[in-house]
Amino acid sequence: MKFTTFYFSGTGNTRWAVYEFAQIVGEKGHQADVVSIDIQTRLSDEQIRAIVADADAIGFANPIYGGDIPPIMRAFISRVVDQIGPQKMAKSAYAINTYGYVNAFGPTEMQKLLDGSGLLLSAYVNLGLCNNVTGSKPLDRAKLAKRMVKGQKELNRLADCLIAGRKRIKGHGPQLMIGAMIRKKIPEAIAKFYQTLGVDSTLCTHCMACVENCPSGSIRLKGKQFVFSSGCTACMRCYNFCPTGAITIDGVRTDPHKFPRYQGPDA
Ligand SMILES: Cc1cc2nc3c(=O)[nH]c(=O)nc-3n(C[C@H](O)[C@H](O)[C@H](O)COP(=O)(O)O)c2cc1C
Repeated sequence: MKFTTFYFSGTGNTRWAVYEFAQIVGEKGHQADVVSIDIQTRLSDEQIRAIVADADAIGFANPIYGGDIPPIMRAFISRVVDQIGPQKMAKSAYAINTYGYVNAFGPTEMQKLLDGSGLLLSAYVNLGLCNNVTGSKPLDRAKLAKRMVKGQKELNRLADCLIAGRKRIKGHGPQLMIGAMIRKKIPEAIAKFYQTLGVDSTLCTHCMACVENCPSGSIRLKGKQFVFSSGCTACMRCYNFCPTGAITIDGVRTDPHKFPRYQGPDA
């Protein structure tokens, strides 16, 4: 069987998960491809249609932002649905979410996004890894390592179920009610997040890493000024990966020694 997972990963947790999944599937004698939806991949409509047609099951993997899926993935799923339309035969779909504290998005919401496409959600899994928004607490590497082991087990079960054609829907629970409340508030904040971003010009070396790596192409250099625009999906990649830690939020630049940036599980 062939499984193709479209993924978005701001800082590396979700990328880790999809490559783990691909390896597990490969070890079980099946094929798993991973396809980034970052703007740099430049997926054409034709490519999307061909990828979906070629796979036995299609996966969507992303982090959870404010109890919801990131705008970049929401827009991508809508594009897939538009491209493939209602299919004569239903095709299996699966979702892999990563989160820091609690995932309040659920399988019902996910299936709603796929409606009209013939993609039927047969598996939905959540992997609690770590928060990628720098806080006052340093990253607990030991806890993350334990969660990665747990995540591998979950991905192994996911692979077994998909291969056997069994459903694996996880993620129903009381957190979904809290999620409904969170989801009302946070998306508005995320939609405006780009307005809070800036660059500390005393530290910026104009290396262009933020512009080149922004997954939604939302950072441009206009003259000497960096301009952040509304396509921003709030992934924190520019903030976490700027080599001099020069990205500011609400005009504040935090010291990377006091507030270490998160650069993924393998960093
Ligand atoms: C804007 C934003 C909002 C987030 N909201 C949530 C949340 O509601 N619940 C949660 O558990 N984690 C939340 N997180 C943490 C991420 O879901 C988590 O760190 C995820 O694994 C990051 O995946 P990535 O490294 O693939 O980008 C949020 C992160 C960001 C950047």
